[in-house]
This record gives sequence, C-alpha cells and structure tokens, in this order.
Amino acid sequence: MGDAGPMNSADLAQVGVVGMAVMGSNLARNFASKGFRVALYNRTWARTQEVIDQHGSEGDFRASEKLEDFVASLERPRRIIIMVKAGAGTDAVIQQLTPLLEEGDIIVDGGNADFHDTRRREHELAEHKLHFVGAGISGGEEGALNGPSIMPGGPKDFYPVLGPMLEKISAHYEGEPCCTYIGPDGAGHFVKMVHNGIEYADMQFIAEAYDVLKAAGLSTAEISDAFRQWNTGDLDSFLIEITSIVLDQTDPRTGQPLVDIIVDQAEQKGTGRWTVQNALELGVPVNTIAEAVFARSTSGHEALRKAGQAALQGPDRSIAVEDRQQLLSDVRDALWAAKVVAYAQGLDEIRTGSDEFDWNIDISAVVKIWRAGCIIRAKLLDRISNEYAAQNLATLLEAPSVAADLDSAQTGWRRVIGLATAAGVPVPGFSAALAYYDSARDPRLPAALVQGLRDYFGAHTYRRVDDAGSYHIEWSGDRSETRTDA
Ligand code: 6PG
Repeated sequence: MGDAGPMNSADLAQVGVVGMAVMGSNLARNFASKGFRVALYNRTWARTQEVIDQHGSEGDFRASEKLEDFVASLERPRRIIIMVKAGAGTDAVIQQLTPLLEEGDIIVDGGNADFHDTRRREHELAEHKLHFVGAGISGGEEGALNGPSIMPGGPKDFYPVLGPMLEKISAHYEGEPCCTYIGPDGAGHFVKMVHNGIEYADMQFIAEAYDVLKAAGLSTAEISDAFRQWNTGDLDSFLIEITSIVLDQTDPRTGQPLVDIIVDQAEQKGTGRWTVQNALELGVPVNTIAEAVFARSTSGHEALRKAGQAALQGPDRSIAVEDRQQLLSDVRDALWAAKVVAYAQGLDEIRTGSDEFDWNIDISAVVKIWRAGCIIRAKLLDRISNEYAAQNLATLLEAPSVAADLDSAQTGWRRVIGLATAAGVPVPGFSAALAYYDSARDPRLPAALVQGLRDYFGAHTYRRVDDAGSYHIEWSGDRSETRTDA
C-alpha cells in the first residue's frame, strides 16, 4: 500500500468479508480465486491469521486486525459482506460498521437472516444513505467455496455495483450464473427462507422413502443402491445423490451402517419453521413443509415418544413385499410427486409474499438460480423454471406436463401411503403432499360443513352456491335464513 496521499484503487480491496468462520472464509477464498482483491476481518484476529496462514497464497487478501483498517482498505463504494451468526451478531457488526461507512457503501448480510430483520435493517441503513442487501446464500461450506446459489435482495441500485461480482463467484448452470436480483428489502432472505423450507420437505420425503424400503426388508446397502439409481433419472438431485452416500457410510467404530448409529432426533436452526410461520401469516397452505418441521419436532419430543412406545399399540412396521421392483418404482413415484408438491407450495408462498410486500419477484428467475449450487438443486428445476417462464401459473401443479406426470405417479404414490399406513410406518410428508393434491382437484370440499358449524356456534355466516351475499340461520329460533350483508 502507498504510504502517503490517497491510495489508488488498485491498492484497495474490491470486496470485504466480515466473519472468518467456515462460510465467511470460504466465500472470501471464492472471491480471491476469481481474481478479486479481498479484505478480511474477524472479531478475533487469531482466526483471520489462521485463514491467511492456510490460504493466503490462494489470492490477493488484505487482512485487518481493526475494523477501521478493514473499512479503509476497501475501494468505494465499499462492498462488505457480513458472514456472522444470524441475529444479534449481525446487528452488532452493522452497528460498528455504520459510523465508518460513507454514502453509497453496500453492506450485504449473507447469513440465514429472518427477512423481517432484513427489512428493518434496510430501512435503518437507508437513513444513513447506505445500501443494505439481504442475500440468501445456499450450498453449504462447499458451495461457498466453489460456487453457491446467491439470492440477493435490497435497493435495486446496488445490483450493478455488486451483482456482477456475486454472479462471478456463484455456481453456473449451463453457463448461466446462479445469482440474480430478487427484489427490494427482505425479498432475498424471504426466498432463501422458502428454499430452506423446501429443503426440509425434500429431506423428509427422502427419509420416508428410506423408512418404507427398510420396513419392506431392504438392507441399507440396497436402499443406497436404489437412491444411486434414482439419481440417474427424473429424481436427479444433490439431496438424492448424498442420500446414497450417507446410507453407504459404515460406522468406523462398530462396522454397522452409520445411519443405524445416529440418534434419531432431527434438529433445526429455524428457517423451516419460519417458512411455515410466514405461510400461516400469508394464508398459504404449505402442509408438506409444515409436516417436515413437525416430523423433526416429533423426533425430538422424547416424552411423547417414550410414552407412545409404552402405551400405544399398532402394526409392527413390516411391509410384505410381493414385487420388489414394483415397490421401488412406487416409492420413486411417491418421492417425485411429493417433491413436486413441495416446490408448488414453496413457490406459491414466494408468489404470495411477493404480492404482499410488493417485491415483484420473478418466480422463473428464482427457480433458475436454484438449478445449481444450492442444497435443493435438482434436474427437475430446469423444467419448472421453463414452465413458469412459458405461462402464468396459479400453481405449478397445473402446468400440463407436470399434471400429466403427477397423474402417472399417483397410483404408486397412493400405494406407498396405503402400504406404509397399514404397516404403521409414519409417512407424514407423502400423505400431506397427496392430501394437498387431492384437495386441489376436489370439486366440493367439506369446508361447507365447517362454515355451517361456524355459523351455528358463532353466527359467522356462510355464502350460498346459488346466490350472492352472506347468510345466517336463526339456529336457536325458527331456523329461517337472513341475509346479513344486505
Ligand atoms: C443451504 C442450507 C443452509 C443450512 C441450513 C440447515 O441452503 O446452504 O440450507 O442454509 O445448512 O440452515 O438448516 P437446519 O439446521 O435448520 O436444518
């Protein structure tokens, strides 16, 4: 660096990363590997030093011990990506950074933030004339290093200044970057939240498929083979691929399949729960995602499971198999169909959220950037993005090619649920997906009776199929009908 006078921009870093835990340091290394000059800062200098010691030779890094020096080491407008634990940690970094920054500088939060926090932070920072960008980043540690899917949202002006750099470090699908401007304020984090909700559902379906095959007597190695095989067809996806790998793993201590040694309680950090909470607020049915969240809660509810195992009777989880190939094909169909339903639900939530908050999100573009880099990347997503680009869909399920394939899959899907249910194997995800499918196509839902009951006990009124208006029956009187909105 020059020792006097203003530094010329070649002396300055083009992007800075705050937070040198694995995601932050991997993202910084990704920028450096693409030729960017990268400033580094971490709360503790020892960690920054460790990153420099291990990876300093990979590119042009500018590490600072003090936040002031980090800020001074960046060209303007400054581009600063915060990769710290979501929540209070992010607010603390923003608070320290704000007085050091100047008009037009950009702060990006790359963590799994609650989009409500992102909206608040954007409004607060706009008052300081700073751009705040909430960017969903998916792909785990490996993705951060080699190419994640990036979902940035915030004031549109930031995109020309930062977007091309993010596109460069993102994963690419057939040459197209898996990064695009999502929309204003919380849009990026909202989309990432729903991505994670779909991830929860996807994993729950996979777990149910495994459980059904296990109950049918297949060995863990055979189930791993089935997933490997499925990954070569329509189900081709990262999660299906890694399922075959995880099922193949033996426990180094006992030699048993590792999956048999892992405690059967699934944990969660919160993004799936937020997806469901927000869906409830928005009135969007996402029952597959809700069941996936609840399945994790159920697995961790030790008191319930202990009491249930002691007190509750039922079938013994054994599925008698007449035709193993048929069962495998049915389970494959159930997995595929349920997965499509989860995408349909997640995309419905994104569309509704976009309308509610005026984000103008392009669903096809969102699905496009999920085709590579992210955890839910799947072959199917290319087709889904094309379907949304080609027509204005109320639901993914109505796209003619999707509806036709769901029709072909439904016999197997229903059979799997029937077999599992009869044998006492819980399949909440598969069942929720099918209930949604059947509800969506049902010409006459029993909601009519619910309305009748609501009118009985609370005079909540009902609408008629044959006339406009709202009505109420004098239930405790002469049972006549009155129009209540006239
Ligand atoms: C991703 C992942 C990532 C993380 C999840 C796990 O897209 O890269 O979704 O964000 O692994 O937060 O979430 P749970 O701990 O809640 O399962």
